[in-house]
Parts: sequence; structure tokens; C-alpha cells
Amino acid sequence: MNPQNPHPGALIVIEGIDGSGSTTQSDMLLQWLGRAGIPSTFTREPSKGPIGGALRLHIVKRLELGGPHAEALAFAADRMDHLASEIEPALARGITVVADRYYLSSLAYQALSCDLAWLREINRFALRPDLTVFLSVPVDVGVARFSSRATRERFEEDRDELARIAGTYDAAIEAIRADGEEVQVVDGTRTPAEVHAEVVRLAAGVLAPRYPGTSLDVAAHEQSSVRPTAPTV
Ligand code: TYD
Repeated sequence: MNPQNPHPGALIVIEGIDGSGSTTQSDMLLQWLGRAGIPSTFTREPSKGPIGGALRLHIVKRLELGGPHAEALAFAADRMDHLASEIEPALARGITVVADRYYLSSLAYQALSCDLAWLREINRFALRPDLTVFLSVPVDVGVARFSSRATRERFEEDRDELARIAGTYDAAIEAIRADGEEVQVVDGTRTPAEVHAEVVRLAAGVLAPRYPGTSLDVAAHEQSSVRPTAPTV
């Protein structure tokens, strides 16, 4: 079982198959947190650290790692490095961290070629997120979204592969939920604003006990509800 977050800041993870909108939603959540006055920062995996750099090259097929186990270990090593250098120092200072992908991605993508129990084992020292939001979209929606991008990455091979990844995500979610982890599945096919409203509602639930005294009224911090102050006469 992954260790609980002992820090004052919350770790919120956004996950989904390629094309699910995790980057858009992470960004919208971060903006909302800023408007709500919650100290927060955005990060993503692979990280910006040295192992993450190698993984980014691997993803764009400019570097070849020696097989699926080496790849899985590299993602796990990057995660521990990311936690030590970026995530935990921020959480310790009371900053909420929004992460676009985390160990659920490894339990889904690397599970195409590696055993799930082993993947959980190599990731078991990674801090458990306070909340993981999984953006659920049908495989065809994911394919349509990433096919419109200019370049195709390693894990964006074809529809069949994405369908297999959707299946391994389901199995991974079931496994970590059985250990009491909070994973919320959100319908990602709606408009970004609609998905965002639900993500914010879920985030507010885990943030309320950590930031007592901060108004987490969901609508109050929406951009559209920010009205210019009345002109003085
Ligand atoms: P990225 O360009 O960041 O894609 P996205 O915008 O969809 O997040 O590339 C990340 C890719 O790496 C993505 O295809 C998923 C994959 N990945 C893994 O296979 N295992 C992991 O543990 C992580 C974090 C990502």
C-alpha cells in the first residue's frame, strides 16, 4: 500500500488515456485554485528531472530503452526523483500539487507488457494521492483528439493499443480502489467547462479539511462569476 501524504498540501492527480483532456483539465484546475487563493503548483510526468528527460526522448522515439521492464523501472525511478525534488517539498510547504499523470499511468500503460502486481511493487514508495481523477472517454474520442496533433508519440500507436490501455486502466483503478484509494471516474466527453466543474467539486472535497477558512464555493471562483467592481461615483 502506498504511504499516505503526511504533508499539509494536497496531491491531486489527473489521469486518462491519450486524448482524454488531462492537460486541459489540470490547467483549468490550477487556474481555479489560484482564484480560490489556494497555494498551488502544476507538474506532470514524465517529470522535468534527469530521468524524466530520458523518458521524454523515449516517448518521442529518439531513445530506445531496453525493453518494457527497463521502461517501467525508469518511470518509477522518475517518479521517486520527482517526489523528492519537486512534489514533497511543495506539499511540505502547504502547496497543493496538481499532477498531470502519476503512478496510475504506469499501472495502465506499462501493464500492457508487465505484471500489474510487480508494477505496484516498484511504485509502492510513491506517496498516495489525496485524489485521482480519471477522465473517462471512449477510445474513439481519444483517437480523434490525438490524431489531429502533428506528431504521433510512442503510446499513441493505434486504436487497438488505446483500447488495451483503457482496459488496463480499468483493472488498475479497481486494484488501487480495493486498497482504499480515492479514484473518481469523470465523464470526459462533455465540454471542458462541464468536466472542469465536476473536477473542481471533487477537488473541493479533499481541499476543505486542509485549508480551513478558505472559501471553496465552487461557483464563486469560476472565471465567469468574476464581475468587475461597480464604478465609484
Ligand atoms: P505526454 O506527451 O505527456 O502525453 P499526455 O499529454 O497524453 O500526458 O506523454 C506522456 C506519455 O507517457 C503518455 O502517452 C503516457 C505515457 N506514460 C507511461 O507510459 N507511463 C507513465 O508512468 C507515465 C507517467 C506516462
